Amino acid sequence: MAEKAANTVETKTAKAAETSKGLGIDDMAVFCKKKGFVFPSSEIYGGMAGFFDYGPLGTEMKNNLKQEWWRFHVQSRQDVLGIDGSIICNPKVWVASGHAEKFGDVLVEDLKTHERFRADVLIEEALRIHADGLSPEDLGKLIKENNVKSPKGNELSNPRQFNLMFTTNVGPVQSENSKAYLRAETAQIIFSEFKNVYETGRIKLPFGIAQMGRAFRNEIAPRHFLFRCREFEQMEIEYFVHPDKKDDCMFIEEVIEDKMNILSVDMQTKGQEEKNISVKQALDKKIIQSPWHAYWLAKELQWFARYGANPDNLRIRQHGKDELAHYSTDCWDLEYRFPWGWKELEGIADRSDFDLQQHIKHSKKDLSIYDEETKKKVVPHVVAEPSLGVDRSFLVFMFDAYDDDKERGNIVLRLHPKFAPYKAAVLPLVNKLESKARAVYDSIKEEMTCYYDKSGSIGRRYARQDEIGTPYCITIDFETLDNEEITIRDRDTTAQTRVKISDLKETMRKLINDEIKFSEL
Ligand code: GLY
Repeated sequence: MAEKAANTVETKTAKAAETSKGLGIDDMAVFCKKKGFVFPSSEIYGGMAGFFDYGPLGTEMKNNLKQEWWRFHVQSRQDVLGIDGSIICNPKVWVASGHAEKFGDVLVEDLKTHERFRADVLIEEALRIHADGLSPEDLGKLIKENNVKSPKGNELSNPRQFNLMFTTNVGPVQSENSKAYLRAETAQIIFSEFKNVYETGRIKLPFGIAQMGRAFRNEIAPRHFLFRCREFEQMEIEYFVHPDKKDDCMFIEEVIEDKMNILSVDMQTKGQEEKNISVKQALDKKIIQSPWHAYWLAKELQWFARYGANPDNLRIRQHGKDELAHYSTDCWDLEYRFPWGWKELEGIADRSDFDLQQHIKHSKKDLSIYDEETKKKVVPHVVAEPSLGVDRSFLVFMFDAYDDDKERGNIVLRLHPKFAPYKAAVLPLVNKLESKARAVYDSIKEEMTCYYDKSGSIGRRYARQDEIGTPYCITIDFETLDNEEITIRDRDTTAQTRVKISDLKETMRKLINDEIKFSEL
């Protein structure tokens, strides 16, 4: 029962706090289900907390999002190579990485109902302070001193550590020796394949290795729809540099004038709000210490902005010492203004040589590389690890695209055309025009995802496409039969223009790729 309650999409806090558009996370979950973007997993059996299924539209959009991430971060760069590793690997990987021992959250139990909660989240909500990363002892002290109770008003147990790794057994004999883990981050597969990629990739420092894929965490309290799930997807890069050249970022000029909303530890300590400053200012004033760190933070913001996220809803926030993961020496989160507050989308950590050194120690393999310049072997440092949640990004683009357009009387999902599940819808004005409309549909369907809809009034059909984010509607009318022209309607402005069928494919390609604006047609 508890599983079902949690999966019917959270919660009091989400209801209380809404975005400036008046859209809460519950509303987004309802919208996603109604339109076929995302469904609660195995709902016919009461659901399963922390697990979701992407529906037909969500699958298209998520695939588009991942494809554009891969294109931007891997395919369009010479210094980043990709891998696609296995979800289960030798459990020694997770012992070496420290996850088997240390990867967890602190839980507390409601002593009456026996429900379990993340202690830091309860404290953050009750006291409005950052509590992520505090020890069980410190969290226990805060609970006692401030008389924090469970959401049902009951006494809480003493906090204790809880490991988030899912375990399974591999092979026909189930014993301690067959125990394995579902990966808790894609990063460790990058580290364990580091030498293979380096030796086969014909690449020199500095370079990155990227991976997208599923990760699993047995979250104590999955919540806020897709925000905190037990099964989720990551898009990660480990960016390796020479240990003596940690400050030599040859790409910094690409982003030096970019502005970002920055909240450093110092600013947090002084109770200040984020400030909008340039990368140059942040580096000159040593607000961000490492040029590589600044570079990757700015690149990530560029990626979000390019695909339609609102930069005002994004900020970067530095982790305090207590918040740092066991492998990290400095970390900045890219945060989004969710309906219930600023929350992490992407952690960009400096992992130093922690992971490679751990794997050298535990595997007893040489994972160093030969530096031609100094004629010495070096163990590279990960100067930045952009680690982004796919599902959280999906939410960002949905929230920023969602527009309850009162004038039109329907929702307009203003997704970037690249992310839109359907790029176009082909609509015959009346049924008599079906065969011409089918021919138009057939002529573009292999080039782009395209919807064919002949039912309902044309206004209703436009509204249906607006609501699922289709950027262009192609209408076939009686004039089409005479002059071989169709009408393209722009979702964002409702403007219409006529185009020759013979030019349609090329026009659509240019529109989707941002090579021309609709107003230029
Ligand atoms: N690799 C960092 C993370 O999974 O959070």
